[in-house]
Amino acid sequence: MNFENVLLTGCAGFIGANTARMLLKQGIKVTGIDNLNDYYDVALKQYRLSILSEYPGFQFIKGDIEDSKLIDNTLKYNRPDAIINLAARAGVRASTENPYIYFSTNVTGTLNILTAMKDHGINKLVHASTSSVYSSHLPPFREDMNTSKPWSPYAASKLASEVLCHTWHHLYGFDVTIVRYFTVYGPAPRPDMSIFRFIRWIKNGQELMLTGDGTQSRDFTYVDDISRGTIAACNSPGTYRIINLGGGNEPTPMNYVIEIIEDLLGKKANVRHIPTPPEDVVSTRADISQAKQILNWESTVGIEDGLKRTVEWYLQTPDIAEKIKI
Ligand SMILES: NC(=O)c1ccc[n+]([C@@H]2O[C@H](COP(=O)([O-])OP(=O)(O)OC[C@H]3O[C@@H](n4cnc5c(N)ncnc54)[C@H](O)[C@@H]3O)[C@@H](O)[C@H]2O)c1
Repeated sequence: MNFENVLLTGCAGFIGANTARMLLKQGIKVTGIDNLNDYYDVALKQYRLSILSEYPGFQFIKGDIEDSKLIDNTLKYNRPDAIINLAARAGVRASTENPYIYFSTNVTGTLNILTAMKDHGINKLVHASTSSVYSSHLPPFREDMNTSKPWSPYAASKLASEVLCHTWHHLYGFDVTIVRYFTVYGPAPRPDMSIFRFIRWIKNGQELMLTGDGTQSRDFTYVDDISRGTIAACNSPGTYRIINLGGGNEPTPMNYVIEIIEDLLGKKANVRHIPTPPEDVVSTRADISQAKQILNWESTVGIEDGLKRTVEWYLQTPDIAEKIKI
């Protein structure tokens, strides 16, 4: 499929901004929607937007996907070739504190997009989901596993959104790809996630809070790989399909992540262990055979290289990185 004009929601977010920039570099026009909510420091979202605004093909709409009128009007007048829906409430632990916002954004927001797609004849959707839907399974995680037992409101809301996308596909024949991302990291990362915090705490000699004993592991996936896979999903025609986008290798223990960052910064971490919350899984790992077969995709950036690039961003952008509230 050839596309020239993409609507990307969550464009000020970590993955959204990176994906928008990759599209813009390929000469594709991007209309980005984001409500710039304060779940984490808005200065980081503004920083990402300032980079996107340098591209003439970028148009920003400050708005909420929960606002059905705004979504309807945007699709009516913008008529994108494809929609990439990355806007979401995305914190696993925070979702237990305020589950309602997770459902209103992740489910009702997605419903607004699907109904506007039907009303305006837009046929192509790439929708972000998460490895958290596999909560109760042992890795490696395959897309055909039964995901009916999520452990967090976040995972439950993402599953609900996947199911909605399937219903709209069934009723109206939409071409929908659900991309399930596995722990994404890279430059300008989310400050509520461990990598940003670990870099800050080690660099500044502050206490590093580590849940559990640090042997828990994740299938970390570099953000450029994730954006490339998301764009590949846009490019490839489909029906309804779910595709894992993850490193696909042995998962990395948190203790090893800390070691790499210590080496990169030349400083030792001052670790304080705190209890593991009940939403947290022990280990994640993607089976990426579907991504390889359907999208010709696999991750290319290993954890050592990816963390090097992330720490470099932190050190080279102190005006932003050091000032972000965590
Ligand atoms: N980062 C990860 O490791 C990871 C893993 C799995 C899945 N995901 C999914 O990838 C997508 C992007 O995640 P991210 O890490 O970039 O998170 P992020 O929080 O940095 O980005 C999400 C963006 O969506 C915006 N947003 C939230 N609610 C909105 C609403 N109602 N209307 C408009 N905009 C809204 C936020 O302001 C934010 O800029 C999300 O769907 C998330 O669930 C992320």
